[in-house]
Formats: sequence, structure tokens, C-alpha cells
Amino acid sequence: MKRLILVFLLLFIASSMAIPADNRTISFILPQGTPFTKPDLESDLDLDIQLFFTDDLKVLWKAEIDDVHWYRCYNDDGFFYLPEMLVVEYPEKLKLDQNGNIEIGLAEVDREYAIPLDYRPDDLVPVPEIYRAEGYEWRDMLLRRKAAEVFERLIDHAEQDGVHIRILSAFRDAEYQANLYAGAIRRDGFFQNSIAKPGHSEHQLGTVCDLTTSEINSGLSKSFENTIAYQWLRDHVTDYGISLTYPKYKVEVTGYIYEPWHYRYMGKDRWLVLDRDPKIFYTR
Ligand code: DAL
Ligand code: ZN
Ligand code: ZN
Repeated sequence: MKRLILVFLLLFIASSMAIPADNRTISFILPQGTPFTKPDLESDLDLDIQLFFTDDLKVLWKAEIDDVHWYRCYNDDGFFYLPEMLVVEYPEKLKLDQNGNIEIGLAEVDREYAIPLDYRPDDLVPVPEIYRAEGYEWRDMLLRRKAAEVFERLIDHAEQDGVHIRILSAFRDAEYQANLYAGAIRRDGFFQNSIAKPGHSEHQLGTVCDLTTSEINSGLSKSFENTIAYQWLRDHVTDYGISLTYPKYKVEVTGYIYEPWHYRYMGKDRWLVLDRDPKIFYTR
């Protein structure tokens, strides 16, 4: 056992030398209570995963151990470790328009690329109650003006075709996403693959909706794929410049579970560049 620890330690030192500390800007989501005292996900099992943001931390180095990147940090309370699951690296540079918004369809937001935690589009408008899923009318839903207009037209069109579609979740700021994320970690552990880290969720763009239908009692579940609503979306969303971000066949690529409910408005111009002919249902 001791030898194992020694090997571990040596590997650790070697890998930490391989990736020296630099001046990267990092945002941290810290667990409440005692942080990790060792670079070991099992080491602090009673960790209370209530997350909050902090920026007054210094990083000494970053190292990869057992496929997890660890950050050795310090603050007023001393040294500690954070696994990559609790750290958001600030994006290098992001092109914003003159209003400070990300151009629709342009941002790559995924497991690797983040948008700033404080990013919030300035043209968010409320989703009218009639478009919100039954039982969620109380939920404040916001979308960027253009995305709201397009999703509302989409839902109206479905309605005309006799298909019931509603919105379950729209814009989510980083703080809200952090709560969802903490919940997912508590439920499924650090390697959960259903909820994005704050800063890494497309929902923060304000151009994304989770959709549902009365066929599945306005829930969020994989069975959405077997509904008439889903079939209808398959046949129609491309005409609206909308696509499915986490299709079944891309699970390995995206790192997230199959989400038949998660739709992103990319914008028609963007769409034409992405998917000339034939247009496809999935985001590339
Ligand atoms: N469920 C998707 C990945 C998100 O949290 O944005
Ligand atoms: Zn039609
Ligand atoms: Zn979603």
C-alpha cells in the first residue's frame, strides 16, 4: 500500500511538472465545507456539494491524475485540491457584438469550451405562459428575443398540425446551472453526464429550449423520442434553423446522454453554412 502511494506520488509530481502553473484565468465552483485535502475523488466522501463561485484563489499547478485534472490551490484557509469537475477555466476570448451579446449560432459551448459565468444576453424576453409546459407556468422562462420568436412560431405551427409541444426550460444563468449541476453530482457522482458545468451549458446562451409534450405528461424523459411531437420536430426544426444538440449517435462526442428534448436555435444563416443540402437535424 505504501509503495502504491509512493508511485502515485511520484507520478503525481512528474505529471505536475509536465503541466506547469501558468497565468490562466480560472473560475472556481467550490464545495461548501472542507475542500479536497488530497487529489482523490474518494478522499472526502462527506463532501457537501453545495457549490458557490469564488475568484480569490490562486492556482499553483494543474496535473492529470487517473484521467482527472486536478488543481492545487490556495486561499486564506490554506492549500487544497479541486478536481476539474469543480473548476471552470475562463474562455480565452469571445467575440461579442456591440451589445455585448454572443452572435447567435456562433459560440461553441460544450465540455471543453465555456462562456463567462457572468454572461447574460441583454435581449432576454419572457416566454408567454401559453408556451410553457403544463405545471411549469410558474417557472420564469426567458429566451433571447429572436429565439423566442422562432420557438413560438415553431410551437404555433405544430399546434396547427395538431401536435402539442411546450417549453420546459429555456435560459439558465450560471448560478442556476450550478444548482442543477450540484444536484446531478449528488445524485450520480462526479462523472455524471447529464448536466453541464456552469459556463458550459448551451442554456446560458438564451437560444436553447428543452421541449416536451402532453403525450409524456409534460415531463423530461427519453421517451420523448417515441412521441408524435418528436417526429414532428424531426421533420420541421431545420426549417426554423433549430437543431438537436445531443443526438443518440453523438453521445461519445458530446459526452452527454442522449437528449431528444434539447433544441438550439442556430439562426438560419448559420444553419445554411453548417448544413447546405440536405439540411440535417443535428448540430455538427
Ligand atoms: N443537459 C445539458 C447538457 C445542460 O445541462 O446544458
Ligand atoms: Zn405544417
Ligand atoms: Zn437542455
